Amino acid sequence: MSENLKGSIAFITGASRGIGRAIALGLAEAGCDVALAARSVEALEEVAGACRELGVRALVVPLDLSELSAIPAAVERCVEELGGLSVLVNNAGMGGGGAADATDPEVWDRMIDVNVRALMHLTRYALPHIEEAVARRGVINIASISGKMSFAGGGGYCATKHAVVGFSHSVFEDVREKGIKVCAICPGYVNTPMVEGRGLDLAKTIQPEDIARTVRFVLEFPETGCPTEIIVRPQRSP
Ligand SMILES: NC(=O)c1ccc[n+]([C@@H]2O[C@H](COP(=O)([O-])OP(=O)(O)OC[C@H]3O[C@@H](n4cnc5c(N)ncnc54)[C@H](OP(=O)(O)O)[C@@H]3O)[C@@H](O)[C@H]2O)c1
Repeated sequence: MSENLKGSIAFITGASRGIGRAIALGLAEAGCDVALAARSVEALEEVAGACRELGVRALVVPLDLSELSAIPAAVERCVEELGGLSVLVNNAGMGGGGAADATDPEVWDRMIDVNVRALMHLTRYALPHIEEAVARRGVINIASISGKMSFAGGGGYCATKHAVVGFSHSVFEDVREKGIKVCAICPGYVNTPMVEGRGLDLAKTIQPEDIARTVRFVLEFPETGCPTEIIVRPQRSP
């Protein structure tokens, strides 16, 4: 096990399953302490246990990202209980909605709250702590290939993921001189509960561990460069 991220403390949203769970384990494997946020506390406890077995500290932070007012306290809890915050992984997200002439606007509003507004608020409250940290530092946003191209029936989701890509590039400009990595990762289909029931060949989709590896690639990148956007497509069409 490499310990390249020893001393780093990562706050990971959507860590209860899927891509977020894999990122938590991947960072723990590299020696990074982790704060795990989502709504499903029991699932978070399981992930925390698996991270602790890898020798790091793991904190469970119950958090519903649609409640924006809960975000500052969640960040402060990580700082108080783990002693800081040096990496933010904005991974949590939701899909849904449908064609623009047939979607309940409340579905769009909720998706914008979770996928965009919460990610922006978290970044805002986490950055002052990240700026103070001395270990490897970064803000990694899990966007989507839907942040680079659009598809029928996905207006809400595509809009939120395009917003995440745009925000990420701007945040990079804000903090680049401070040496903080900022990257939007844009995956195609990943084998997680989000894509269940879509008739995909799951052996051909990207695996959650592939995205965890991409996150580490960014955080472990040399001081002189920053991959600011990474598109990951399934090698073979699923
Ligand atoms: N799977 C794909 O093909 C794919 C492709 C490209 C991008 N992505 C993106 O990757 C990210 C992770 O997706 P995934 O595939 O791992 O999805 P997933 O299996 O459905 O997991 C989503 C995660 O987000 C959390 N979450 C959802 N709503 C939340 C809320 N209101 N408050 C707090 N946490 C919330 C969930 O936790 P709780 O339910 O416990 O709260 C869960 O941990 C998302 O941003 C997604 O858009 C996925």
